[in-house]
Amino acid sequence: MSWLEGRVIENRAWTEALFSIRVSGVNLRFEAGQFVRIALDIDGERVARPFSFVNPPQDPELEFYGIVVPEGPLSPRLARLRTGDALYVAANPAGFLVLSEVPDAQTLWLLSTGTGIAPFLSMLRTEAPWKRFREIVLVHAVRRANELVYREMIQGMKGLRYVTFVSREPHVGSLAGRIPQAIADGRLEAAAGAAFSPGTSQVMLCGNPDMLTDVRAALAARGLRKHRRRAPGHITSESFW
Ligand SMILES: Cc1cc2nc3c(=O)[nH]c(=O)nc-3n(C[C@H](O)[C@H](O)[C@H](O)COP(=O)(O)OP(=O)(O)OC[C@H]3O[C@@H](n4cnc5c(N)ncnc54)[C@H](O)[C@@H]3O)c2cc1C
Ligand SMILES: NC(=O)c1ccc[n+]([C@@H]2O[C@H](COP(=O)([O-])OP(=O)(O)OC[C@H]3O[C@@H](n4cnc5c(N)ncnc54)[C@H](OP(=O)(O)O)[C@@H]3O)[C@@H](O)[C@H]2O)c1
Repeated sequence: MSWLEGRVIENRAWTEALFSIRVSGVNLRFEAGQFVRIALDIDGERVARPFSFVNPPQDPELEFYGIVVPEGPLSPRLARLRTGDALYVAANPAGFLVLSEVPDAQTLWLLSTGTGIAPFLSMLRTEAPWKRFREIVLVHAVRRANELVYREMIQGMKGLRYVTFVSREPHVGSLAGRIPQAIADGRLEAAAGAAFSPGTSQVMLCGNPDMLTDVRAALAARGLRKHRRRAPGHITSESFW
């Protein structure tokens, strides 16, 4: 494994548990939507985890968005990094949650939970989705309203339909509950002003693995299935754990 050493130039705390790290000094080629392993040396061992790029490929600085899993070995330490600290970044970005894997369609649905919004923020700041899809819907589902991060950037994206879910407290302007239920009962389509249909939709999913399973089941009832190179379909996904 070959590692590049970068420097933290900013570590923004959105909440006690949510952070965004910007890193300079690492030059990488990747496609928007991909991830890379990032690492710290902890007690003499290099501890690495995959993180999706938040920045688009053309940005010289890298950005990662994370949550503190209190009992996890790496994330609490990432959250404590300060400007000037070293962060190791693997030299080989990877991953198939990319638009070059997704067939053309009328509507692109980007459905995320928690930190799973990260790869979509990278994609939405490239030209490809805007050229290829007539409607783009970004959905972000979080437990609490203060976890609706990057709102300013998102609300500045002209033409984007942005739908939020807040599941553990009431929040004006967000849907309640979970994405799969809101697909089943039509609330998500109503909020987005767009439809899930095998003839017109491509769906990308990212975040909690149980969400991926439950959304695939809800979409199966609407005639949408997993996309594979050899058996084209409608759903492309990436699980974060
Ligand atoms: C392809 C890929 C891309 C990823 N991109 C990101 C990213 O952009 N941002 C990010 O924060 N994490 C991302 N992850 C998860 C990340 O790699 C780590 O697992 C996470 O940072 C926790 O690391 P840890 O060492 O503290 O705990 P770990 O031992 O890695 O995880 C412990 C447990 O924490 C929970 N968990 C892990 N990641 C998350 C998460 N993101 N949100 C909620 N619960 C979680 C799971 O229950 C997991 O079993 C990604 C994972 C994969 C496979
Ligand atoms: N340090 C801290 O203070 C702190 C604070 C918060 C979290 N954490 C850590 O972060 C982890 C959770 O991170 P997170 O809140 O970003 O992720 P999450 O548990 O995946 O929750 C994000 C959103 O996904 C929803 N969801 C969960 N399962 C789903 C399913 N099967 N189908 C559809 N939607 C589903 C949740 O709804 P529901 O609300 O209905 O589950 C929530 O709206 C915890 O394990 C904890 O370790 C730490």
